[in-house]
Amino acid sequence: MQFGFFDDIHREYIIQRPDTPLPWINYLGSQSYFGIISNTAGGYSFYQDARLRRLTRYRYNNVPLDMVGRYIYRRDNQNGAFWSPSWQPTCTNLQEYSCRHGLGYTIIASTFQGIRNQTRYFVPLNQNIEIWEVEIENQRDQRADISIFSSIEFALWDAMDDAANFQRNFSTGQVEVNVGKAGEPDVIYHKTEYRERRDHFAFFACSEPVTGFDTQRESFLGPYRSWANPVVVSEGSSLNSIAYGWAPIGSHHVKVSLAPGEKQKIIFLLGYHENPRDDKFDPPESQTINKRNLLPTIRRFLKKDQVEASFEELKNYWDDILGILQVETPDPHTNRMVNIWNAYQCMITFNMSRSASFYESGIGRGLGFRDSTQDLLGFVQMAPERARQRLLDLAATQLDTGGAYHQYQPLTKRGNNNVGSNFNDDPLWLVLATSAYLKETGDWGILDELAPYDNQPGTETPLFDHLQRSLQYTLDRLGPHQLPLIGRADWNDCLNLNTFSTEPGESFQTTTNMDGKVAESVFIGGLFVLASHEMAQLCQSLGKNELAQTYMDHAKQMTKTVMQEGWDGSWFLRAYDHYGDKIGSKTCEEGKIFIEPQGICIMAGLGLSDGKAIQALDEVNKRLATPHGIVLQQPAFSRYYLNLGEISSYPPGYKENASIFCHTNPWIMIAETMVGHNDLAMDYYQRINPSCREQISEMHRCEPYVYPQMIAGRDAPTHGEAKNSWLTGTAAWNFVAITQWILGIRPTLDGLRISPAIPTNWDGFSATRHYQGIKYNISVKRAGKGSQVSIKIDGVPLKGEVLPYSFVEKNEVNVEVILS
Ligand code: BGC
Ligand code: NOJ
Repeated sequence: MQFGFFDDIHREYIIQRPDTPLPWINYLGSQSYFGIISNTAGGYSFYQDARLRRLTRYRYNNVPLDMVGRYIYRRDNQNGAFWSPSWQPTCTNLQEYSCRHGLGYTIIASTFQGIRNQTRYFVPLNQNIEIWEVEIENQRDQRADISIFSSIEFALWDAMDDAANFQRNFSTGQVEVNVGKAGEPDVIYHKTEYRERRDHFAFFACSEPVTGFDTQRESFLGPYRSWANPVVVSEGSSLNSIAYGWAPIGSHHVKVSLAPGEKQKIIFLLGYHENPRDDKFDPPESQTINKRNLLPTIRRFLKKDQVEASFEELKNYWDDILGILQVETPDPHTNRMVNIWNAYQCMITFNMSRSASFYESGIGRGLGFRDSTQDLLGFVQMAPERARQRLLDLAATQLDTGGAYHQYQPLTKRGNNNVGSNFNDDPLWLVLATSAYLKETGDWGILDELAPYDNQPGTETPLFDHLQRSLQYTLDRLGPHQLPLIGRADWNDCLNLNTFSTEPGESFQTTTNMDGKVAESVFIGGLFVLASHEMAQLCQSLGKNELAQTYMDHAKQMTKTVMQEGWDGSWFLRAYDHYGDKIGSKTCEEGKIFIEPQGICIMAGLGLSDGKAIQALDEVNKRLATPHGIVLQQPAFSRYYLNLGEISSYPPGYKENASIFCHTNPWIMIAETMVGHNDLAMDYYQRINPSCREQISEMHRCEPYVYPQMIAGRDAPTHGEAKNSWLTGTAAWNFVAITQWILGIRPTLDGLRISPAIPTNWDGFSATRHYQGIKYNISVKRAGKGSQVSIKIDGVPLKGEVLPYSFVEKNEVNVEVILS
C-alpha cells in the first residue's frame, strides 16, 4: 500500500493522506538555519546546533504524535468552524490533502468547505529565516470571511535545559511585540535571556497588518486545552497576551475577506538574529532589542517577489548540486534514488550528522568521527569545499596518539569529553575520507594543511601526518593474535567486548571495565588493510615510494594475520573477546556469522585470489539474506551476554542484534561486484532501496524516499518494518555502492574510472558526471554478458578504464563504453 507517489520531474514526493504510518519528514535549510518538517507541519527549527540553539519546540515521543509545529489555523468567521489545513493539530477531515516534500522545501495543501489553502515552507539560501508562504483561495460562490492564526512555540535555546529545568524556565521567558506601527512590519520577538548573556533572539513576522497577536501559550490555548482547540482560535479573537515567564509563543491573527474565486498570499517569517554585544539595545541604555540591522531583511523577505526569487534560487542550488551526477538506467528506482533522493539524503546527513530527525532528538550527540568521515564519501562531489573544512575540523579532534574523540559539538568544534576516545576504528575512517576527497578534487594541498591535536594551539602538524598517525594507532594496539585491539567498540558500537556491565542503565558506550588488552577486531583488521592501501596510493602519487612500500607491507602483514587468525573456515570471524574466545564463528551458538567483516575484508581485497571471498559471500547469502535485506548477524542473541554488551541488549531482530542494519548492506553489494556477481549486487541494492519498497509502505512505515538505519530482521515479529530514517551512514554507502561500483563511475587518484558491474539483463545506461572541471557524457552499452570494458573518448579508443585528465584537454567529452 502507498501513501503517495514520486513526482520525479519536480523532484518531489507527494503524500496524499495525512495519516502516514509515521510522520514523514523533510528538512529545511542548507547552511546554518535548519528545521525538520513533517507532512502535517510538525517539527522545529534551530540555528547551527540542534541542542544549543533550538529556536522552536517539539515534543519527542509525545502523544499525540508529532507535536508541535508550524501550525496556521483557519477559522470561518461566518459559522465559527476552525481547522488546520495541515491536518494536525485539529485533525479535521480535509478534502484534497497533499504534502509535497521537495528539495529543501515542503508544500502542504488542502481544501475545507470550499476554502483552499496552500503553504510553502522553505529557508532561503544564506539567510537565517524560514518563510511560510500562505495562499488562501475562496472556491465558494459567496464571499468568505476567514481568520488566520499563525502559531509557533519558542524554545528557550538550550533544548536539553528547555525540556528539564522548569523551576527556572517558567520565569525567564520574555518577548517584545511590535504591531500596528505605521510603516513597520508586524513582528513578534522572542528574547528570553537577551537581557543577560545572549546576543541573539528569534522573530516571527507577518506581511499583513494583524488584527491581534498572542505570545503566552496559556492565553492562546486556554487552560487545560491543547493545540487541537486553542481558545483564541475557537473564539476567533486574539488576546494580545505578552509572555512574562511561562511559555512564550508567537501567534498572529490576520483577517481576510475573499470574494468568490479570490486568492490572497500572506507571508510569515520565522528567523534568528545576532547582534553585536555592544550594540544590543536601542536606545543603548534601554532593554529594547536593537532591530536596525534586522529590519531591512524582514522587509525584504516579506515581499512576494522576493519570496518567489528566493525559491527559484533554492531550486537552482539543488539543480546544480544534483547535476554533478545524473544517470538514466533501465531501473526507475535506481534513477530516482541516484538522481534525487539518495543524493539529497547524503547532503542532509552531512548537514545534520546524527543530530536532528524524528528519531534523533538533537540533544543526544554531536558530530560523530566515524559517522562524519563516512558521510563524506556520499557528499564530497556535491560540496567539496565543505568536505575540505569538515576533514580539517575532524583532524583537529584527533589526539596526538592518532586516536580521536568519538564525537564533537558542531558549535564549538571541540571533542566531547563525556564520550571520549578509544573507539579503535575511528581514525582509520579519516584515511578513507581524505582519500575520497583527493580522488574527487585532486586538491593535494589539503595534505599540507596544518591541523592541531585535541584543538590545542601549538600542536599543529600537516594533515598528512594525521593520516600517518591514524594508521600507526592501529599498529600500536595489536592483541594476542596480532589483530587490532577493539577498544570500546569498532564500527559496531554495540559489540562492547570490554564493557562487562551489570549496572542497569549504565551507558554501554562509555563504560569500560576491562583493560582491553585482549579483545580484538577482525573488522578493524580489514579496515586497516583498506586504509593502508589507500595511504600507499596517496604516497605513490606524492612520489614517496618508500613510504608507499611501507604501507603495502603493513597491509600485507595484516592480510596474512587476518587470513590466519580471522578466517573461520567458510567466512571471516568477527572478533576475539576478552577471554580470547571467538565471536562470529561456527563454534558459537548465537552470532555465528556477522556481515561486517565479510563486507570490509572483501572490500580490502582479502580472499579475492583464493576463492574465500566468494565462499564468504555465499554464506552471507545463505545465512543472512532476507527479502527485506541482509541481516547483521545470525543467529540473533536470545539473551544478554555480559561479554558482548549492548548488541545483546536488543530483542532479536532489532538494531545491531540481527536487524537489517542498512549501512552494512552496500558493503556486500560492493563485494559482490568485486567477485563479478553483478546480478546479486543489484538484487541486494533493490531489496533495501526505499523507492522499491514504496508499495509496502504499510509494512515499511518509514518514508519511501530515504533510507532508514534499520529494517527489522527475520527474528522480529515486525520483520520488514523500518526505523530511524534519514540520518544514517546508509545514505553515503548506498550512494557509493550504486554509483561507483554497480554503475562503476569511480573517481581515482589518476582520473575517473569507468568499470560498470551492471546486471546481465541491462543493455546499458547513460550518465553525465561533472568531474574536475570536465563534463563526461557517458554511454554504456552491453555487447556481451560480461563486464569487460572497452572505452572510446570522443571516438578515440582508450587503453584501460581510467579517463586521464591529460588525455582530455576539453571541458566536455563523450565517453562510449562497451561491455562484453
Ligand atoms: C545504537 C547504535 C549507536 C550507538 C551510539 C546505540 O544505542 O544501537 O546504533 O551507534 O548507540 O549512539
Ligand atoms: C550508528 C552509529 O551512528 C554508527 O557510528 C555505528 O557505526 C552504527 N550505529 C553501528 O553500531
